[in-house]
Amino acid sequence: MRDSVLIFGSGTMGCAISCCAALANNPVILYDKSDQVLEKAVSRVHENLNDLCNYGLYSPEKIDEAKKLIRTSNDIEEACGKTKLVIEAVFENLEIKQEVFRLLDEMLPAEIPILSNTSGLRISDIALKTKHPERTLTAHFWLPAHLIPLVEIVIGDKSDPKLAEEMKEILTSWGKAPVIVNRDLPGQLANRILQAVIREAVNIVEIGLASPEDVDTAIKMGMALRFPVWGPLEHVDAVGMDICSSVQNTVLPEISGRTTASPLFDKFLKNGDMGYKTGKGFYDWSQKDMDALVKKRNDFIVHALKKIGSNNGRQ
Ligand SMILES: NC(=O)c1ccc[n+]([C@@H]2O[C@H](COP(=O)([O-])OP(=O)(O)OC[C@H]3O[C@@H](n4cnc5c(N)ncnc54)[C@H](O)[C@@H]3O)[C@@H](O)[C@H]2O)c1
Repeated sequence: MRDSVLIFGSGTMGCAISCCAALANNPVILYDKSDQVLEKAVSRVHENLNDLCNYGLYSPEKIDEAKKLIRTSNDIEEACGKTKLVIEAVFENLEIKQEVFRLLDEMLPAEIPILSNTSGLRISDIALKTKHPERTLTAHFWLPAHLIPLVEIVIGDKSDPKLAEEMKEILTSWGKAPVIVNRDLPGQLANRILQAVIREAVNIVEIGLASPEDVDTAIKMGMALRFPVWGPLEHVDAVGMDICSSVQNTVLPEISGRTTASPLFDKFLKNGDMGYKTGKGFYDWSQKDMDALVKKRNDFIVHALKKIGSNNGRQ
């Protein structure tokens, strides 16, 4: 019986997406290349699920049920025999993803949807070697995927738009907040907006208008507190077109319209300062605790989710 969601790739994202699928009562097959990788994946999946329980988002019984619904496999034929839906989460590499899609397309009946969790590649390119590109879409879950509701569904050049609507319904029933992106362009939807924010945040530091700490404080203690319930376009309607258009005419000429990365990045790179992974970037990470920051971020996400009553699938 084809009753399982196949999560292809058991890294950070594959493990978290498996939890979402299992919590929505789907049997899940978590596929990867080796037993060794899959062993690690099981502890990661259990960690994610235990977190959700500790946060009080799900009961211990529900978490136990979800754990039982997830099994691992490195036998692609056996896995494909049970699959009703695939979400691919292998390395962000076009050749690897193309090969995975070619193989899955060959092994699965034409009506089984094959989705990619790619952050930056075009699904139209990933599906280039498939015979049935109409059943392919991007389904971009955001990190940490077991907590963040957003999933961007991107329609490729040859995807069936009806499938995007069907996937939106399915992911909504999983308790996610899917959005449909009608064209397969770089940055999907949310990353286009995030990059515009980062471009101006970096620009403000570059021109000496404010310090990195003050840029981050301005966002964290200002607009970000409104965003979970107050989108920028709701903001425009609340303020009024007359005022917004006048503000845009005043402010837009002053802010960055750069179409390539800031030279500030070259300066960091020349010094070997890659950010947290080398200990220094905009901040000196010997003086700041990344683990504590991640915990604070996740705690806040959970607090916000509880307040706004998102993820209707939770119990
Ligand atoms: N990490 C993030 O913040 C994030 C957020 C959103 C989307 N994504 C996207 O999700 C995808 C996965 O990212 P990740 O961070 O989970 O990566 P990861 O490196 O943690 O995991 C990738 C997994 O894929 C497996 N894999 C690689 N090639 C394979 C193959 N041919 N067959 C089977 N398994 C294979 C690896 O063994 C590994 O377990 C990427 O496309 C990435 O861009 C990542």
